[in-house]
Amino acid sequence: MKILIINGPNINMLGIREPDIYGKETYQTLIDTVSNYAVKLGIDIECYQSNHEGDIVDKIQAALGSTDGIVINPAAYTHTSIAILDALKSVGVPAVEVHISDVSKRESFRQISFIRDYCIKTIIGQGLNGYCMAIDELLEYLKK
Ligand code: DQA
Repeated sequence: MKILIINGPNINMLGIREPDIYGKETYQTLIDTVSNYAVKLGIDIECYQSNHEGDIVDKIQAALGSTDGIVINPAAYTHTSIAILDALKSVGVPAVEVHISDVSKRESFRQISFIRDYCIKTIIGQGLNGYCMAIDELLEYLKK
């Protein structure tokens, strides 16, 4: 079982960027958290972060045939990127959308998510634990 964790722009700045919104934990802590969780579950994970939309599209395309599920926080591209939605649809790999903050209580432009309809589940406002919850959702879905 292989799960790919994709994070979009500025997620590498966790711990520095707006700690009142995103918390004080760093991107490295995010990697450590999901890696430890994967060991506990006995699954393989790969963590990928990019600030570039096309690179995220390339990574999703490369998941075809090599990845059972995708956990994705497209960050700001959530609200703008049809290309990321189309990439997910192209490969057909099941995906869960994650947001560290509670986007439902933030600006109106954050209420749009192009990938939401594709994803089997959306997890918002759970901090870094949201990624572990997303892995659980994928495993549950893949069991069926
Ligand atoms: C985010 C929410 C987005 O609106 C924002 O652009 C991000 C992070 C989150 O994880 O809460 O960069 O996806």
